[in-house]
Amino acid sequence: MAEILLVLGDVLDLVDDPAIAGDKAHRYYSPGAILIEDGIVVEAGIAAEIKQKYAPKLALEDCRVIDHSGHLITPGFIDTHIHFPQTEMIAAYGEQLLSWLEKYAFPTEVQFSDPAYAKQIAELFLNELINNGTTTALVFGTVHPQSVDAFFSVAQKYNLRMIAGKVMMDRNCPDDLSDTAETGYTESKALIEKWHNQGRLSYAVTPRFAPTSSPEQLQKCQQLLAEYPDVYLHTHLSENKAECEWIKDLFPHEKNYLSVYDNAGLVKKRAVFAHGIYLDDSEYQCLANKQAALSHCPTSNLFIGSGLFNLAKCEHHKVTVGLGTDVGGGSSFSMLQTFNEAYKVQQLQDYKMSAFKGLYLATLGGAKALDLTAKIGNFLPGREADFVVFHNAPTPFLAFRLAKCTDLHERLFCSMMLGDDRMIKQTYILGKPAKNAAFYASTLYSSNNAQEELA
Ligand code: GUN
Ligand code: ZN
Repeated sequence: MAEILLVLGDVLDLVDDPAIAGDKAHRYYSPGAILIEDGIVVEAGIAAEIKQKYAPKLALEDCRVIDHSGHLITPGFIDTHIHFPQTEMIAAYGEQLLSWLEKYAFPTEVQFSDPAYAKQIAELFLNELINNGTTTALVFGTVHPQSVDAFFSVAQKYNLRMIAGKVMMDRNCPDDLSDTAETGYTESKALIEKWHNQGRLSYAVTPRFAPTSSPEQLQKCQQLLAEYPDVYLHTHLSENKAECEWIKDLFPHEKNYLSVYDNAGLVKKRAVFAHGIYLDDSEYQCLANKQAALSHCPTSNLFIGSGLFNLAKCEHHKVTVGLGTDVGGGSSFSMLQTFNEAYKVQQLQDYKMSAFKGLYLATLGGAKALDLTAKIGNFLPGREADFVVFHNAPTPFLAFRLAKCTDLHERLFCSMMLGDDRMIKQTYILGKPAKNAAFYASTLYSSNNAQEELA
């Protein structure tokens, strides 16, 4: 029998980009309701109207009401760029991209040849995403296929919609993190066959970035995309000035950084390029023409000193943009803190970013970047019921500040600017509550003898 859920609260979602549709881009129902059947949204609206329209369904014996009245409810957050193996080295001090990779990222990633270790970190990572209200992410593994097996098996256990892939990297990296054009291809292919479109899981072909993939390997990536047209392409682009200079040395005949990927046939719908800071107009235009997306990762761009992302240029050229945390280059798992930094990055460029635009980037914009708007990103009928409930009083000070808010925009702006995981009262996956406080007192910590400390 169908499982019917009526969720009560102040329901807010985006049905368009505020830069295009203005105030019509968001819908707000207060007091509102979302009717959910077997984990799928039937309809969201004003609570009284939903109750009246669906009275026969709601009279069924097994209908349950989840009451978050007075609390903001939004779609689950979508993180369009993150590295699960870098969980343990978040907040690594003092380096910029290329030396940061050598000093911190590569030595950390070597450990993921061990499947048991990979699984332990995947558990911690996915619990931390849920804790922060993130219900879908586009995720880097390491070069080891077992890192992706571990990640997907844990994501599957939690019923999460996740996209991930094994890093492909055949040059300019440590030997124990290197594949070859051929093994990168065969290992990726085997993972696609095993995991792609298994339930809520999808695969992304994941060359790390052009400096660590030979032209032969980039060609192999294209071969995978041709063989499996609905898999994703996930990589980095124009993040850091020294990286961009290196591209000129490595690919002297290419017009610009993006053309390295474009001439390899990798710029397409379902291709997501992290960062995209140092782009010329032709690169923005190429991304827009090919319906590829950029992932804006502001905490990372500030933390490792990369530069300022130009959102106005993306809007001008109609480039699809999502938000990414880029943990461990990024300094927070929280998409609220990611908005906080995105807002400041835009302030420095005289662009006033509204909270509605921020929520758009964290939900529907992310869904668009991942070509998943038919499944996630808002509460239109037929969408999967992944959503978050905001606290009104996560800390005494925030209770005080939020009580001073006089309209929806101020409430949302303060919640996003000042919030982190404490702002997320609950995270629902397909209509089921998923925040798991018990997790942090369990296996991972007991292995460090930290159980008593927590008790
Ligand atoms: N470019 C290539 N690899 C990486 C990485 O791991 N993190 C970031 N931020 N940029 C990269
Ligand atoms: Zn990254």
